[in-house]
Amino acid sequence: MTLFRGTVLDTPDDPFTGGALRAEADAGLLVRAGVIVERGSFAELRGRHAEEDVVDLTGGLVLPGFVDTHVHFPQVRAIGGLGMPLMDWLERCALPEEVRLADEHYARAVAGEFISGLAQAGTTTALVFGAHFAGAVDALFAEAARVGLRLTSGLVVSDRLLPEELLTTPQRAHDEGLALARRWHGVGRNRYAVTPRFSLSCGDALLDSCGSLQRDVPGAWFTSHINENAVEIATVAELFPGCHYLDTYDRHDLIGRRSVLAHNVHPTDEELQLLAHRGASVAHCPTSNAALGSGIFSLKRHLASGVRVALGSDVGAGTGFCLLKEGLQAYFLQQLLGGEGQQLAAAQLLHLATAAGAEALGLEEVGDLNVGKRFDAVWIRPRPGTTLDVGLRNAAGTEEALAKAFALGSPADIDSVWIDGEPLHTVSAGGGSSTPAPTHRPPAAAPVG
Ligand code: GUN
Ligand code: ZN
Repeated sequence: MTLFRGTVLDTPDDPFTGGALRAEADAGLLVRAGVIVERGSFAELRGRHAEEDVVDLTGGLVLPGFVDTHVHFPQVRAIGGLGMPLMDWLERCALPEEVRLADEHYARAVAGEFISGLAQAGTTTALVFGAHFAGAVDALFAEAARVGLRLTSGLVVSDRLLPEELLTTPQRAHDEGLALARRWHGVGRNRYAVTPRFSLSCGDALLDSCGSLQRDVPGAWFTSHINENAVEIATVAELFPGCHYLDTYDRHDLIGRRSVLAHNVHPTDEELQLLAHRGASVAHCPTSNAALGSGIFSLKRHLASGVRVALGSDVGAGTGFCLLKEGLQAYFLQQLLGGEGQQLAAAQLLHLATAAGAEALGLEEVGDLNVGKRFDAVWIRPRPGTTLDVGLRNAAGTEEALAKAFALGSPADIDSVWIDGEPLHTVSAGGGSSTPAPTHRPPAAAPVG
């Protein structure tokens, strides 16, 4: 067993419904086989477990691993294409890059960059938009398995209005998806997600084949885009007369508890009610919504309707993998909405970046650092002398320290990341120390006699 020591913050009780930040300045978490088996003050746990190895994480903040509920694997190299609305950005930045993933050698290189980008940002769990090519999605699952990330992903499918190379047919979409799911769904930490790109690029026959794939893969997730941009929404309305956007998926039985829809910047009340009724979740992607000028997400309307919301980076329209940045951008936009906005305290930002994501993905075993949960965690420990280091050392309390982490933190400040109690070795972004080895071994037993 290993005893982790540090300033531990998490949100086991939802701060949107009366819960508060749980913060312990010198906590101990005892981890056995990846699971937290005891927690309390470090002194108390050390007293009871004098023999266990200690991993000393004092001098920073220990948080649950981040959960990114919407991020695109083939878009790592497309990050930073600014100045365009959605449809232009897709045409000029994202789709030409996505075509390159037909080459499996190229796809393997991008898979390495993608998984490493998530890990460096402290993301331990992600719902990932895969690629349009089965070989590339296979490379993604293989890389996630090699590194150990918790990944839910699938083959992205479309059959119209995209470059020819990205198109498939309903039968092929079903067959390739099923083969990938048989190879990866439920294997290690991987799970399969049925992934039509968006209704604009998917006809009814293709969406129907997605519905049958979902039925053929028990426990599979569903993800797609919805209500992101005014031109996109108007085009979908023309393509599906008489339907609202959510209907285009719902009438193929794609919307339920295991569905996560990205953006939803411009929902109708009827759609919000149906999302809540079905138990589906929305991935809020604040840097993407701002970068593409898609609009300002109404968190208040979602919460009032009872729709589950978590954070997504939406790389590559989003501006990086860092969920601290997404949290800060969410905060900014709610501030700008004035009376229409949902005020967000640091505890709520942490919840959106961790427990809310775990709940959206149905992963009850992660999201906070309670006894019984798996030890998926990040250690934010900025280099000495950086502004975040100064801020953390001078914070009046743990909630203030957490707000500073959202205001100032970046992947450079993530020192180490663990999944199931095991350190991820791809994390070295910040020039911080390598993952700390157990530092306080019990003293060698005195020779007897
Ligand atoms: N809608 C369809 N495809 C995409 C995509 O790649 N990014 C975003 N932000 N929206 C989309
Ligand atoms: Zn997206």
